[in-house]
Amino acid sequence: MTNNLGDSVKLRHGAVLTNRMAMSPMQTHSGKRGGFVSDDTVGYYSARSQAAGMLITEFHYVSENGGPAYTPGYPEQLGVYSDKHIDGLTKIAQELKKDGNKAILQIHHGGRAAIGQAVSGAEVVAPSGIDFPFLDYPLRELTQQEVLAIIADFGRATKRAIVAGFDGVEIHGANHYLLQQFFSKLSNHRTDQWGGDLARRMAFPLAVVEEVVRVVKEDAPADFIIGYRISPEEIHGTEIGYTYQESTKLIQEIVKYKLDYIHLSLWDGYGSGPEKVEKSYAELFKEILDEETKLLIVGGVFNEASARDAIEKYSDLIAIGRGTLVEPQFAKKVLDGEGSSIFHEITPENIEYVSWTMGLKEAFSRIDSLGLPAIPGGESIRSMHTGQFDMFYHK
Ligand SMILES: Cc1cc2nc3c(=O)[nH]c(=O)nc-3n(C[C@H](O)[C@H](O)[C@H](O)COP(=O)(O)O)c2cc1C
Repeated sequence: MTNNLGDSVKLRHGAVLTNRMAMSPMQTHSGKRGGFVSDDTVGYYSARSQAAGMLITEFHYVSENGGPAYTPGYPEQLGVYSDKHIDGLTKIAQELKKDGNKAILQIHHGGRAAIGQAVSGAEVVAPSGIDFPFLDYPLRELTQQEVLAIIADFGRATKRAIVAGFDGVEIHGANHYLLQQFFSKLSNHRTDQWGGDLARRMAFPLAVVEEVVRVVKEDAPADFIIGYRISPEEIHGTEIGYTYQESTKLIQEIVKYKLDYIHLSLWDGYGSGPEKVEKSYAELFKEILDEETKLLIVGGVFNEASARDAIEKYSDLIAIGRGTLVEPQFAKKVLDGEGSSIFHEITPENIEYVSWTMGLKEAFSRIDSLGLPAIPGGESIRSMHTGQFDMFYHK
């Protein structure tokens, strides 16, 4: 039977999504010092309660040494490393859930990307103390005790997500952050139980999954959703962190913990695949998932036709990232039969409608989009750039 965007989808633990669309996690550049939610954050999420059936927040760092991963000068990444964050998180969850869609908190540790630690003069920690040419601060190898503390922090963050009223958590195992750093040969040179052969490089991501599942079983409603996001490959020219053959092995181990979904982070489009391989990443991962673990993919969806194509050809669920930045009502319009009125780009005319945070406006009116993939129409808002957050940013 062909998938339809408006199908409701029952996840393994019983949660029912009202459609096959998800809002992809996206940093809003709106946190206050210490990773606290601002009014700007709440306004952004409030406007997106009907963007999709499953609404995944931006990444939230689980340990004090796990973030912020942000552009110095810009408003910060959000945190979930203390109980003091719960009030703000509760506001996000309430706003996202107000129209009956599911709210998922993305939980994260930046490892080497926690630039905020360097900015404040603290050590930046990572699996190994490697001197990377693309970093202008040193890394220190995590001790055994610190590794265990971070695993426990993922559990505590999950507990906070439950208390704040989220319907689920997504473990951020993608995009070169700490879980991926442990899995990658390029960034993990450890010789203890957390590094070495494939099984040892899997140990940290698996320990995090185990801890999150443990807390959910103990403290969450039975239908609480758990997802895991992964980058299917880490290959930079001739340098190989891991291949898709290895990441599918990791996912085969992860699904033994009975997660609700696996989310592939794809930057080259939802139908993309490994070089010189006929199959797409979606097909390769779908083959190893059981029926009960749903596949979520992402990449380059800005209209109804491509969202439909993704779920007809490749996947159970499709996430929409920048498409929901320029169209906060993406799923609502599709479900109401108004897909043709979906905005595909940013313009000076729809800048109020999109409800961006100040940080997003500043980021996407820059020529380099702060290193993020460009937003269609970005050039039309260049003159709105004030530069108010750029004073510390040299690039
Ligand atoms: C502004 C911005 C912020 C992002 N922040 C996150 C994040 O917090 N966590 C994450 O897993 N991915 C993040 N991403 C990646 C997106 O979730 C998505 O995978 C990527 O944009 C490709 O999807 P798209 O083509 O639909 O935008 C971000 C992307 C953008 C554009």
